[in-house]
Amino acid sequence: MAKDSLTITDNRTGATYEVPISYGTYPKYGAAIPAADLRKIKVADDDFGLITYDPGYTNTGSCKSAITFVDGERGILRYCGYPIDQLAEKSTYLETAYLLLHGELAGDRELAEWIHNVTHHTMLNESIKKVIDAFHYDAHPMGMLVGTLGVLSTFYPNAKNIFDEPSRRRQIWRLIAKMPTIAAYAYRHTRGLPYVLPDNNLSYTGNFLNMLFKITEPTYEPDPVLERALDVLFILHADHEQNCSTSAMRNVGSSHADPYCAVAGAAAALYGPLHGGANEAVLRMLNGIGSVDEVPAFVEKVKSGKAGRLMGFGHRVYKNFDPRATIIKDLAHEVFKVTGVNPLLDIALELERVALDDEYFVSRKLYPNVDFYSGIIYQAMGFPTSMFPVLFAIPRVSGWLAQWQEMLLDEDQRIARPRQVYIGNDERDLP
Ligand code: ACO
Repeated sequence: MAKDSLTITDNRTGATYEVPISYGTYPKYGAAIPAADLRKIKVADDDFGLITYDPGYTNTGSCKSAITFVDGERGILRYCGYPIDQLAEKSTYLETAYLLLHGELAGDRELAEWIHNVTHHTMLNESIKKVIDAFHYDAHPMGMLVGTLGVLSTFYPNAKNIFDEPSRRRQIWRLIAKMPTIAAYAYRHTRGLPYVLPDNNLSYTGNFLNMLFKITEPTYEPDPVLERALDVLFILHADHEQNCSTSAMRNVGSSHADPYCAVAGAAAALYGPLHGGANEAVLRMLNGIGSVDEVPAFVEKVKSGKAGRLMGFGHRVYKNFDPRATIIKDLAHEVFKVTGVNPLLDIALELERVALDDEYFVSRKLYPNVDFYSGIIYQAMGFPTSMFPVLFAIPRVSGWLAQWQEMLLDEDQRIARPRQVYIGNDERDLP
């Protein structure tokens, strides 16, 4: 049996070093060496020692985590061991959020309490309405969301007690509960519509649809197919291990900022078009292509670098297929039975067909990701494109909070503070 260590020879000095290899649940994945051990590798005693150079953290484990497992080669995504397709079929978003935060499925009593607590924190302080009112009429709802999340921090000063478990639990209820309310109010503000109070008799997604789309009817009745489709989309988006926004959540949280500020930071990271902003970018791209006939010419332009990237394609981790994209594609057909088919679907299907048959995309292992079809569904459900990243952020809050809490309770974790390889000038004097 080979020893679980690595022997490194420094050819500059001839010295050898032994560093231990540790494993996670699967020996095949996550075999790791402690990067700090490389500091022993020096040419002279006063050397800083070796560091790793890893822009974009493509091969750096920043934490140990028991929450989400992704196998990009085999297209596997599991939350706390449960496969994403089983959760999408049999669970609800709130059950899934509980699972992510507690590591186990809720029993009947725990689930009832959890749903009660989230449901009873959905209202926003009246002053927060004034904050939303203050945004310009054409403010992007994602900007409003990021700003309002930061504002929430000022309403709950106790949230700073991040190591007080009851306080932490309360902030978690509040954040999961208030995300749909902030999102709906941001949407209503851009439409010039009055805000709709939460209805505690509805489900998490049913109430969200109520706050978004209720007009004059005394009681809003969400369409059950759309309510469930949104719930499934929320399950699929709830967590995805150490992506850009989750790393932002952990980084901001590592300075012991309160969770509202940390979630605002994570949401800001999600806003970018290479991350959660991609579903909005997909819709703009499909609209720009205009018709199925234009697809081959567009793909050629992407390949020659004249049309940017094929949005909704490619993933840092999935190099085979994104299991969420498969579920979403099936879900689209259910939604279209209620809403009517979105004409952009034909363009998307043709784009997928042409790209998956093209050497450029095949050789680079570029496949549709979670965002490729989600935007088409959201549009069919009546959401403007600017709301798409917000719809991603709402469920991802449960993942961010689960990862944040895991980070706080992990004794290995310290304030996030990477090193750099300095390439600037040596010391010089001002003239
Ligand atoms: N269209 C065309 N070419 C692409 C695409 C794409 N969507 N994605 C990657 N490539 C090409 C790159 O140009 C590069 O080609 P090269 O080797 O000839 O230079 C190669 O594939 C590798 O690309 P990288 O940028 O190194 O891959 P990385 O892992 O860093 O990027 C990312 C992953 C950001 C998701 C990228 O695929 C992309 O920009 N996709 C489009 C945006 C998108 O859909 N984002 C959503 C991601 S899912 C999510 O956040 C929920």
